[in-house]
Amino acid sequence: MNILLVHAHPERTSVTRRLVESAAQVLTGQGHEVVRSDLYAMRWKAVFDAADFPVRVDPGRLSFVDESRHAYAGGCQTADVEDEQRKLRAADAVILHFPLWWFGMPAIMKGWVDRVWAYGLAYGYRGAGNTHRYGEGGFAGKRALLAVAVGGPAIDYSPRGINGPLEQLLFPITHGTLFFPGMQVLPTFAVYGAAALDAAGMAEADAAWRGRVARLFDDAPIAFRAQNGGDYPDRHVLADHVAPGRSGLMAHIAEATRSPLDAVKIAHAPGVAIDCEHRSAGDRTSHTGNRR
Ligand SMILES: Cc1cc2nc3c(=O)[nH]c(=O)nc-3n(C[C@H](O)[C@H](O)[C@H](O)COP(=O)(O)O)c2cc1C
Repeated sequence: MNILLVHAHPERTSVTRRLVESAAQVLTGQGHEVVRSDLYAMRWKAVFDAADFPVRVDPGRLSFVDESRHAYAGGCQTADVEDEQRKLRAADAVILHFPLWWFGMPAIMKGWVDRVWAYGLAYGYRGAGNTHRYGEGGFAGKRALLAVAVGGPAIDYSPRGINGPLEQLLFPITHGTLFFPGMQVLPTFAVYGAAALDAAGMAEADAAWRGRVARLFDDAPIAFRAQNGGDYPDRHVLADHVAPGRSGLMAHIAEATRSPLDAVKIAHAPGVAIDCEHRSAGDRTSHTGNRR
């Protein structure tokens, strides 16, 4: 199999980079091919702007969607974007490694998505508007996984924690960015307290991570509901009989596999690094790290 590791941290000794190295080791040890996009080393251009469209369909007005459609279909994207799309096409799985910055990914990685997720590929697939999305699209058949270094303690991200549950904070990435173009998204792997992790904590987190990586092609993905699987008859809104009485982000995960209790157990386990492969899709974040 071919695995693309995309990472956004310039510091070799960071938690983020340690997890990248471990992933590469485990995967190559299993006989897989590992390809990397080290965004800082590549000096990735994070800003999506007019320079992305050297050949314009409308020089008078910059419509990103129209220009993206034109550039992707016409083969006139920039070389850096084409390279990343080539790596993605070849990948059976993609792991995004990043530190949590303001409850999301660093700008350099967001800019990687903005520029590489072209119209016709990641959205507007086959020029058919929203016909193919959420479970279908240009990245169907690939697996995706987030490996996130989180500065704060797990309890701040627990179901009633002050920051909100991590799987909800990252929903725009797991659901909106990865599942939207068709990837099967695995439960996020998070290392909490990453800003002040001691050697023992790092070793524990690393061991848990290696286990997750080894099961990259075995673990069950988050049970996001597919647009065309029957739950959204008009392709926009959940049918009345689906998740009745529920709304918001988590309604878009099949509730048969949800169990909020799992997350509570993990959030209240002090001083341990655990890889919680709990079965609940709604609370599918894997947690590791110490409470501070
Ligand atoms: C710009 C910036 C924003 C941050 N935002 C958050 C945040 O939203 N939540 C949090 O828990 N930690 C936050 N942190 C702390 C980082 O997540 C933490 O430093 C990082 O996970 C440490 O891992 P690393 O060794 O890979 O850098 C932030 C740090 C920086 C520099």
